[in-house]
Amino acid sequence: MKILVTGGLGFIGSHTVVELQDKGFEVVVIDDCSNSSEKVLEGITSITGKMPLFEKIDLKEKSKVEAFFKKYQDIEGVIHFAASKAVGESVEKPLLYYENNIGTLVYLLKELSKKNTSNFIFSSSCTVYGQADKMPISETAPVKPAESPYGNTKQIGEEIIRDTCAVTQGLNAIALRYFNPMGAHPSGHIGELPIGVPQNLVPFITQTGVGLREQLSVFGDDYPTEDGTCIRDYIYVVDLAKAHVQALQRLLEGKNEENYEVFNLGTGKGSSVLEVIHSFERVSGKKLNYKIVDRRPGDVVSAYADTKKANEVLGWKAEYTLDEAMKSAWDWEQKIRG
Ligand SMILES: NC(=O)c1ccc[n+]([C@@H]2O[C@H](COP(=O)([O-])OP(=O)(O)OC[C@H]3O[C@@H](n4cnc5c(N)ncnc54)[C@H](O)[C@@H]3O)[C@@H](O)[C@H]2O)c1
Repeated sequence: MKILVTGGLGFIGSHTVVELQDKGFEVVVIDDCSNSSEKVLEGITSITGKMPLFEKIDLKEKSKVEAFFKKYQDIEGVIHFAASKAVGESVEKPLLYYENNIGTLVYLLKELSKKNTSNFIFSSSCTVYGQADKMPISETAPVKPAESPYGNTKQIGEEIIRDTCAVTQGLNAIALRYFNPMGAHPSGHIGELPIGVPQNLVPFITQTGVGLREQLSVFGDDYPTEDGTCIRDYIYVVDLAKAHVQALQRLLEGKNEENYEVFNLGTGKGSSVLEVIHSFERVSGKKLNYKIVDRRPGDVVSAYADTKKANEVLGWKAEYTLDEAMKSAWDWEQKIRG
Protein backbone atom coordinates (compact mmCIF):
# COMPACT_ATOMS: atom_id res chain seq x y z
CA MET A 1 0.00 0.00 0.00
CA LYS A 2 1.49 3.32 -1.09
CA ILE A 3 1.48 6.21 1.37
CA LEU A 4 2.56 9.78 0.67
CA VAL A 5 4.44 11.46 3.49
CA THR A 6 4.91 15.19 2.90
CA GLY A 7 7.77 16.66 4.88
CA GLY A 8 9.03 13.10 5.26
CA LEU A 9 12.65 14.20 5.61
CA GLY A 10 11.85 16.44 8.58
CA PHE A 11 12.04 15.60 12.26
CA ILE A 12 8.69 13.88 12.89
CA GLY A 13 8.19 12.88 9.24
CA SER A 14 11.42 10.86 9.01
CA HIS A 15 10.59 8.88 12.17
CA THR A 16 7.13 8.20 10.78
CA VAL A 17 8.53 6.97 7.46
CA VAL A 18 10.58 4.43 9.43
CA GLU A 19 7.54 3.18 11.35
CA LEU A 20 5.46 2.97 8.14
CA GLN A 21 8.14 0.99 6.32
CA ASP A 22 8.44 -1.22 9.36
CA LYS A 23 4.75 -2.08 9.02
CA GLY A 24 5.18 -2.93 5.33
CA PHE A 25 3.85 0.27 3.74
CA GLU A 26 5.50 1.58 0.60
CA VAL A 27 6.37 5.21 1.27
CA VAL A 28 6.72 8.11 -1.15
CA VAL A 29 8.26 11.20 0.42
CA ILE A 30 7.69 14.73 -0.83
CA ASP A 31 10.04 17.30 0.64
CA ASP A 32 11.61 20.49 -0.70
CA CYS A 33 14.44 20.26 1.85
CA SER A 34 13.70 23.81 3.03
CA ASN A 35 14.21 22.60 6.60
CA SER A 36 15.92 19.25 6.08
CA SER A 37 18.41 17.47 3.88
CA GLU A 38 18.41 14.64 1.37
CA LYS A 39 20.92 12.91 3.64
CA VAL A 40 18.00 11.95 5.87
CA LEU A 41 17.06 9.41 3.18
CA GLU A 42 20.29 7.57 3.96
CA GLY A 43 19.50 7.60 7.67
CA ILE A 44 16.06 6.12 7.04
CA THR A 45 17.53 3.48 4.73
CA SER A 46 20.16 2.51 7.30
CA ILE A 47 17.38 1.74 9.77
CA THR A 48 14.84 0.01 7.53
CA GLY A 49 17.03 -1.38 4.76
CA LYS A 50 14.73 0.25 2.23
CA MET A 51 15.05 3.63 0.55
CA PRO A 52 11.65 5.36 0.35
CA LEU A 53 10.67 6.83 -3.02
CA PHE A 54 11.55 10.51 -3.00
CA GLU A 55 10.17 13.46 -4.96
CA LYS A 56 11.83 16.79 -4.32
CA ILE A 57 8.82 19.04 -4.75
CA ASP A 58 7.86 22.38 -3.24
CA LEU A 59 4.18 21.89 -2.39
CA LYS A 60 3.59 25.62 -2.95
CA GLU A 61 3.86 24.83 -6.67
CA LYS A 62 0.33 23.76 -7.45
CA SER A 63 1.14 22.32 -10.89
CA LYS A 64 3.77 20.04 -9.34
CA VAL A 65 1.28 18.77 -6.78
CA GLU A 66 -1.17 18.00 -9.60
CA ALA A 67 1.54 16.27 -11.63
CA PHE A 68 2.53 14.20 -8.59
CA PHE A 69 -0.97 12.79 -8.16
CA LYS A 70 -1.16 12.04 -11.91
CA LYS A 71 2.10 10.09 -11.61
CA TYR A 72 1.15 8.26 -8.41
CA GLN A 73 -2.51 7.35 -8.84
CA ASP A 74 -2.23 4.52 -6.35
CA ILE A 75 -1.59 6.66 -3.24
CA GLU A 76 -3.93 5.29 -0.55
CA GLY A 77 -3.12 7.66 2.25
CA VAL A 78 -1.39 10.97 2.90
CA ILE A 79 0.35 12.08 6.06
CA HIS A 80 0.92 15.80 5.78
CA PHE A 81 3.82 17.09 7.87
CA ALA A 82 5.24 19.68 5.47
CA ALA A 83 4.90 23.14 6.97
CA SER A 84 6.93 26.01 8.33
CA LYS A 85 6.99 25.84 12.12
CA ALA A 86 8.98 28.68 13.70
CA VAL A 87 6.59 30.73 15.83
CA GLY A 88 8.80 33.85 15.94
CA GLU A 89 9.41 33.84 12.19
CA SER A 90 5.68 33.49 11.59
CA VAL A 91 5.10 36.78 13.43
CA GLU A 92 7.62 38.51 11.16
CA LYS A 93 6.55 36.81 7.92
CA PRO A 94 2.86 35.90 8.26
CA LEU A 95 2.23 35.57 4.53
CA LEU A 96 5.04 33.05 4.17
CA TYR A 97 3.33 30.94 6.84
CA TYR A 98 -0.16 31.31 5.40
CA GLU A 99 1.13 30.41 1.95
CA ASN A 100 3.23 27.44 3.03
CA ASN A 101 0.93 25.99 5.67
CA ILE A 102 -2.47 26.81 4.20
CA GLY A 103 -1.84 27.01 0.45
CA THR A 104 -0.15 23.60 0.34
CA LEU A 105 -2.95 22.04 2.39
CA VAL A 106 -5.56 23.33 -0.04
CA TYR A 107 -3.64 21.97 -3.05
CA LEU A 108 -3.37 18.54 -1.44
CA LEU A 109 -7.04 18.41 -0.43
CA LYS A 110 -8.07 19.46 -3.95
CA GLU A 111 -6.21 16.49 -5.36
CA LEU A 112 -7.58 14.10 -2.76
CA SER A 113 -11.12 15.32 -3.39
CA LYS A 114 -10.81 14.05 -6.98
CA LYS A 115 -10.38 10.47 -5.73
CA ASN A 116 -13.19 8.10 -4.80
CA THR A 117 -11.62 7.44 -1.44
CA SER A 118 -8.73 9.07 0.32
CA ASN A 119 -7.24 9.12 3.77
CA PHE A 120 -5.53 12.14 5.23
CA ILE A 121 -3.58 12.71 8.45
CA PHE A 122 -2.77 16.29 9.45
CA SER A 123 -0.05 17.54 11.81
CA SER A 124 -1.78 19.85 14.20
CA SER A 125 -0.64 21.12 17.55
CA CYS A 126 -1.71 21.64 21.14
CA THR A 127 -1.09 25.31 20.44
CA VAL A 128 -4.74 25.42 19.26
CA TYR A 129 -5.82 25.23 22.93
CA GLY A 130 -3.81 28.28 24.02
CA GLN A 131 -3.90 28.51 27.82
CA ALA A 132 -6.58 25.92 28.44
CA ASP A 133 -8.82 26.46 31.45
CA LYS A 134 -8.51 22.90 32.67
CA MET A 135 -5.66 20.38 32.91
CA PRO A 136 -5.20 17.85 31.47
CA ILE A 137 -6.44 19.14 28.12
CA SER A 138 -9.01 17.00 26.38
CA GLU A 139 -10.04 17.22 22.73
CA THR A 140 -13.28 18.91 23.78
CA ALA A 141 -11.44 21.90 25.29
CA PRO A 142 -12.24 25.06 23.34
CA VAL A 143 -9.86 26.28 20.67
CA LYS A 144 -8.57 29.66 21.84
CA PRO A 145 -7.53 32.65 19.67
CA ALA A 146 -4.12 31.89 18.20
CA GLU A 147 -1.06 33.57 19.72
CA SER A 148 0.84 33.64 16.40
CA PRO A 149 0.31 33.28 12.65
CA TYR A 150 1.88 29.80 12.96
CA GLY A 151 -0.69 28.76 15.57
CA ASN A 152 -3.39 30.28 13.40
CA THR A 153 -2.34 28.14 10.43
CA LYS A 154 -2.99 25.03 12.54
CA GLN A 155 -6.44 26.25 13.57
CA ILE A 156 -7.37 27.32 10.05
CA GLY A 157 -5.88 24.10 8.69
CA GLU A 158 -8.14 22.03 10.94
CA GLU A 159 -11.18 24.09 9.88
CA ILE A 160 -10.36 23.68 6.19
CA ILE A 161 -10.12 19.90 6.61
CA ARG A 162 -13.32 19.73 8.65
CA ASP A 163 -15.27 21.80 6.12
CA THR A 164 -13.89 19.80 3.19
CA CYS A 165 -14.70 16.46 4.84
CA ALA A 166 -18.25 17.67 5.47
CA VAL A 167 -18.92 17.89 1.73
CA THR A 168 -16.51 15.32 0.29
CA GLN A 169 -17.69 11.76 0.32
CA GLY A 170 -14.82 9.35 0.51
CA LEU A 171 -12.44 11.79 2.19
CA ASN A 172 -11.51 10.68 5.69
CA ALA A 173 -9.22 12.74 7.85
CA ILE A 174 -7.64 12.81 11.28
CA ALA A 175 -5.98 15.84 12.83
CA LEU A 176 -3.35 14.92 15.40
CA ARG A 177 -2.64 17.60 17.98
CA TYR A 178 0.92 17.05 19.14
CA PHE A 179 2.12 18.24 22.49
CA ASN A 180 5.94 18.64 22.66
CA PRO A 181 7.82 16.19 20.43
CA MET A 182 11.41 15.40 21.41
CA GLY A 183 14.20 12.86 21.07
CA ALA A 184 15.77 10.88 18.26
CA HIS A 185 15.64 7.39 16.84
CA PRO A 186 17.40 4.87 19.14
CA SER A 187 19.56 3.73 16.18
CA GLY A 188 21.17 7.19 16.10
CA HIS A 189 20.56 7.42 12.32
CA ILE A 190 17.87 10.12 12.39
CA GLY A 191 16.89 12.87 14.81
CA GLU A 192 16.07 16.55 15.09
CA LEU A 193 18.24 18.84 12.97
CA PRO A 194 17.29 22.41 13.86
CA ILE A 195 18.65 25.00 11.47
CA GLY A 196 20.00 27.99 13.41
CA VAL A 197 18.99 28.67 16.99
CA PRO A 198 16.62 25.92 18.20
CA GLN A 199 13.07 27.04 18.93
CA ASN A 200 12.36 24.11 21.21
CA LEU A 201 13.66 23.48 24.71
CA VAL A 202 15.22 20.04 24.27
CA PRO A 203 17.54 20.76 21.31
CA PHE A 204 18.53 24.00 23.04
CA ILE A 205 19.44 22.01 26.14
CA THR A 206 21.45 19.38 24.23
CA GLN A 207 23.23 22.05 22.16
CA THR A 208 24.13 23.84 25.39
CA GLY A 209 25.26 20.55 26.88
CA VAL A 210 27.57 19.89 23.95
CA GLY A 211 28.99 23.43 24.09
CA LEU A 212 27.40 24.83 20.94
CA ARG A 213 25.38 27.34 22.98
CA GLU A 214 26.80 29.07 26.00
CA GLN A 215 23.77 29.15 28.21
CA LEU A 216 20.11 28.22 28.31
CA SER A 217 17.67 30.96 29.30
CA VAL A 218 14.75 29.75 31.40
CA PHE A 219 11.93 32.20 30.78
CA GLY A 220 10.44 32.91 34.19
CA ASP A 221 10.42 31.03 37.48
CA ASP A 222 7.49 32.86 39.02
CA TYR A 223 4.66 31.03 37.30
CA PRO A 224 1.97 29.43 39.46
CA THR A 225 3.54 25.94 39.19
CA GLU A 226 5.38 23.89 41.79
CA ASP A 227 8.87 25.11 40.86
CA GLY A 228 7.70 28.30 39.13
CA THR A 229 8.66 27.25 35.58
CA CYS A 230 6.28 26.43 32.73
CA ILE A 231 4.89 22.96 32.28
CA ARG A 232 4.67 21.03 29.00
CA ASP A 233 3.99 17.47 27.90
CA TYR A 234 7.11 16.03 26.24
CA ILE A 235 6.39 13.18 23.89
CA TYR A 236 9.05 10.90 22.43
CA VAL A 237 9.18 11.22 18.63
CA VAL A 238 9.13 7.44 18.06
CA ASP A 239 5.95 7.15 20.14
CA LEU A 240 4.53 10.01 18.10
CA ALA A 241 5.52 8.36 14.82
CA LYS A 242 3.76 5.15 15.86
CA ALA A 243 0.58 7.10 16.55
CA HIS A 244 0.56 8.22 12.91
CA VAL A 245 0.66 4.63 11.71
CA GLN A 246 -2.14 3.78 14.11
CA ALA A 247 -4.23 6.72 12.87
CA LEU A 248 -3.61 5.80 9.24
CA GLN A 249 -4.60 2.19 9.86
CA ARG A 250 -7.77 3.38 11.58
CA LEU A 251 -8.75 5.16 8.35
CA LEU A 252 -7.59 2.43 5.98
CA GLU A 253 -9.58 -0.17 7.92
CA GLY A 254 -12.63 2.10 8.05
CA LYS A 255 -12.66 2.10 11.84
CA ASN A 256 -13.18 5.85 12.14
CA GLU A 257 -16.47 6.91 13.66
CA GLU A 258 -16.66 10.18 11.74
CA ASN A 259 -14.92 11.27 8.57
CA TYR A 260 -13.08 13.98 10.48
CA GLU A 261 -11.60 13.16 13.86
CA VAL A 262 -9.18 14.85 16.24
CA PHE A 263 -6.79 13.25 18.73
CA ASN A 264 -4.36 14.65 21.27
CA LEU A 265 -0.92 13.06 21.22
CA GLY A 266 0.93 13.46 24.48
CA THR A 267 2.03 11.43 27.47
CA GLY A 268 -0.51 12.91 29.86
CA LYS A 269 2.29 13.94 32.19
CA GLY A 270 3.40 17.53 32.54
CA SER A 271 7.08 18.33 33.15
CA SER A 272 8.41 21.70 34.18
CA VAL A 273 11.38 23.33 32.44
CA LEU A 274 13.51 22.61 35.52
CA GLU A 275 12.44 18.97 35.52
CA VAL A 276 13.50 18.69 31.88
CA ILE A 277 16.86 20.25 32.74
CA HIS A 278 17.28 17.80 35.61
CA SER A 279 16.43 14.93 33.29
CA PHE A 280 19.22 16.10 30.98
CA GLU A 281 21.62 16.32 33.92
CA ARG A 282 20.71 12.79 35.02
CA VAL A 283 21.17 11.12 31.64
CA SER A 284 24.25 13.09 30.58
CA GLY A 285 25.99 13.28 33.95
CA LYS A 286 26.66 16.96 33.12
CA LYS A 287 25.62 20.17 34.84
CA LEU A 288 23.71 22.42 32.47
CA ASN A 289 24.60 26.09 32.30
CA TYR A 290 21.28 27.89 32.58
CA LYS A 291 19.96 31.10 34.03
CA ILE A 292 16.51 32.32 34.96
CA VAL A 293 15.43 35.35 32.93
CA ASP A 294 12.17 37.28 32.54
CA ARG A 295 9.02 35.63 31.31
CA ARG A 296 8.62 35.46 27.54
CA PRO A 297 5.45 37.00 26.10
CA GLY A 298 2.99 34.47 24.73
CA ASP A 299 4.13 31.49 26.84
CA VAL A 300 1.25 29.58 28.40
CA VAL A 301 1.79 28.43 31.99
CA SER A 302 0.87 24.82 31.58
CA ALA A 303 -0.20 22.42 28.83
CA TYR A 304 -0.44 18.67 29.10
CA ALA A 305 -2.70 16.19 27.37
CA ASP A 306 -5.67 14.20 28.44
CA THR A 307 -4.73 11.01 26.59
CA LYS A 308 -7.93 9.07 27.22
CA LYS A 309 -9.28 9.39 23.68
CA ALA A 310 -5.95 8.46 22.04
CA ASN A 311 -5.56 5.53 24.45
CA GLU A 312 -9.08 4.16 24.20
CA VAL A 313 -10.31 5.12 20.74
CA LEU A 314 -7.09 5.23 18.73
CA GLY A 315 -5.56 2.39 20.74
CA TRP A 316 -2.26 4.18 21.17
CA LYS A 317 -0.28 5.05 24.27
CA ALA A 318 3.08 6.77 24.75
CA GLU A 319 5.56 4.27 26.14
CA TYR A 320 8.83 6.09 26.69
CA THR A 321 9.76 8.11 29.76
CA LEU A 322 11.21 11.60 29.70
CA ASP A 323 14.64 10.25 30.69
CA GLU A 324 14.60 7.66 27.89
CA ALA A 325 13.60 10.27 25.33
CA MET A 326 16.20 12.69 26.73
CA LYS A 327 18.92 10.05 26.48
CA SER A 328 18.12 9.54 22.78
CA ALA A 329 18.27 13.32 22.21
CA TRP A 330 21.61 13.56 24.01
CA ASP A 331 23.11 10.57 22.15
CA TRP A 332 21.98 12.15 18.87
CA GLU A 333 23.43 15.56 19.71
CA GLN A 334 26.79 14.02 20.57
CA LYS A 335 26.75 11.97 17.39
CA ILE A 336 26.06 14.89 15.04
CA ARG A 337 28.64 17.11 16.73
CA GLY A 338 31.19 14.31 17.11
N1 LIG B 1 8.19 19.79 16.20
C1 LIG B 1 7.21 20.29 16.95
O1 LIG B 1 7.43 20.74 18.07
C2 LIG B 1 5.78 20.30 16.44
C3 LIG B 1 4.72 20.48 17.34
C4 LIG B 1 3.42 20.50 16.86
C5 LIG B 1 3.17 20.37 15.49
N2 LIG B 1 4.21 20.23 14.64
C6 LIG B 1 3.94 20.11 13.20
O2 LIG B 1 4.42 18.87 12.73
C7 LIG B 1 4.86 18.96 11.39
C8 LIG B 1 6.28 18.43 11.29
O3 LIG B 1 7.13 19.14 12.19
P1 LIG B 1 8.67 18.84 12.29
O4 LIG B 1 9.09 19.24 13.65
O5 LIG B 1 8.97 17.49 11.80
O6 LIG B 1 9.21 19.95 11.27
P2 LIG B 1 10.41 19.89 10.22
O7 LIG B 1 10.67 21.28 9.79
O8 LIG B 1 11.53 19.09 10.76
O9 LIG B 1 9.74 19.07 9.03
C9 LIG B 1 8.94 19.67 8.04
C10 LIG B 1 9.46 19.22 6.68
O10 LIG B 1 8.63 19.77 5.67
C11 LIG B 1 9.45 20.27 4.62
N3 LIG B 1 8.70 21.33 3.96
C12 LIG B 1 8.33 22.54 4.46
N4 LIG B 1 7.66 23.25 3.54
C13 LIG B 1 7.58 22.47 2.42
C14 LIG B 1 7.02 22.65 1.11
N5 LIG B 1 6.42 23.79 0.76
N6 LIG B 1 7.13 21.65 0.23
C15 LIG B 1 7.74 20.48 0.56
N7 LIG B 1 8.30 20.26 1.77
C16 LIG B 1 8.24 21.25 2.68
C17 LIG B 1 10.73 20.72 5.31
O11 LIG B 1 11.84 20.74 4.43
C18 LIG B 1 10.89 19.68 6.40
O12 LIG B 1 11.66 18.57 5.97
C19 LIG B 1 4.71 20.43 11.01
O13 LIG B 1 3.47 20.58 10.36
C20 LIG B 1 4.68 21.14 12.35
O14 LIG B 1 3.97 22.35 12.28
C21 LIG B 1 5.51 20.18 15.08
